[in-house]
Amino acid sequence: MLTQQTTTPAAALLTRYRTVRHATMRFCAPLTPEDMMVQSCPEASPVKWHLAHTSWFFETFVLAEFVAGYRPFHPDFRWLFNSYYKALGEMPEKKLRASFSRPPLEQILAYREHVDARLCRLLEQTPEDEVLRRVVLGLEHEQQHLELAATDIKHAFFTNPLHPAYQLAPPDESQEKIAPPLEWLSFSPGYPGRPGVVEVGVTPDPGATDSFAFDNETPRHSVYIAPFRLASRPVACAEYLAFIEEGGYTRPELWLSEGWDAVQANGWHAPLYWRRDTANKSGWSIFTLHGWQPLGELSETPVCHLSYFEADAFARWSGHRLPTEFEWEFVAAQREPEILGGPSLPAASSPGWVGCNLLESNALHPQPGSPTALTPQQLFGDVWEWTQSPYTGYPGYKPLPGALGEYNGKFMSSQMVLRGGSCVTPASHIRATYRNFFHPSTRWQFSGLRLARDGAS
Ligand SMILES: [Fe+2]
Repeated sequence: MLTQQTTTPAAALLTRYRTVRHATMRFCAPLTPEDMMVQSCPEASPVKWHLAHTSWFFETFVLAEFVAGYRPFHPDFRWLFNSYYKALGEMPEKKLRASFSRPPLEQILAYREHVDARLCRLLEQTPEDEVLRRVVLGLEHEQQHLELAATDIKHAFFTNPLHPAYQLAPPDESQEKIAPPLEWLSFSPGYPGRPGVVEVGVTPDPGATDSFAFDNETPRHSVYIAPFRLASRPVACAEYLAFIEEGGYTRPELWLSEGWDAVQANGWHAPLYWRRDTANKSGWSIFTLHGWQPLGELSETPVCHLSYFEADAFARWSGHRLPTEFEWEFVAAQREPEILGGPSLPAASSPGWVGCNLLESNALHPQPGSPTALTPQQLFGDVWEWTQSPYTGYPGYKPLPGALGEYNGKFMSSQMVLRGGSCVTPASHIRATYRNFFHPSTRWQFSGLRLARDGAS
């Protein structure tokens, strides 16, 4: 009699572990050891540090806690590659990460192999559920750092006088890069008898080890959303150029007070990575992971590398506003395909995922949506979308116990929420309830905007 083979949660997780860890190393393949040493702005870290720190996370929160008699790879690594977990003790200042010429890269790679070998052995031994939950968290953490490595190396190459490209040519030059017309989609949330009241966020199932949400996505709860309209796609570079050409950066009435101060203090006159270039017709060039490209070639792509202040000023100039995080989630959750969480790209036929440009597409830059697709488009991928929502805990929010409680909760001040992922977010990492957060002056992520307005008609 034939017996059906079943995959245990630990076996499935082992496969995912190998896939996610390999994706990090595949991203690093074009980089030299010297590239991996650069820390070009206070927000960024060297790629070499990312490689070590993600291994540190597994070693600290899984191996050291759940493997009897575990011997660390190196006793100094416990404090050396700690990022911000103060409950675990002292750590080097972030700005010193570029000074880590020692340990050498070969030792960091050996550290990764050491952690991989022991972690895989642990998963093969059918460990307890808490191990599985910690490994899933470690993989989500690894994917966050893969995205950070992409944005950090982009900034590193931008500051290099030679402006090297991470990847020489964009992968698909044949596609016509025309953004679809911007449409306004109307939404009136709520149920009969409860207009405007909807549920957002996640209440995790304590028995489930194969689903995941960060603590800051919990618990699921009710919110009120008045009727609103949402743009069918993100704002494109050509539209943002009109804001620049109409004096957007010189008109204080368009800016929040802190935003105007940031414009003055930093000399902002365009998004990060834009430079004036009289050699091409559009008058601007944009630095990408493929090197410099004329604005003319990217004018229909979603504008990116905006601070919250710039996104907000553009929205005000256009006569509209940024969506709240709950308006965004309400729309995105209706369009989230069941494939979410899987290792492959989302189904291209599902609205919301149409034109979905995440890390696996290898475009490494936002792309225009499809002129024939259902709307809304590009909710996931391309650019993180700034919302007007401050990053705070949901009602009833509880951080994870112990040092892991420092993962998200302690950053709940002076930051704004972004939604939807970017062109360098791994596909299996993003979902409708995912809350990213940055200080409003942050520009080095692939951050853009989608417009909203009040009223459904
Ligand atoms: Fe981290």
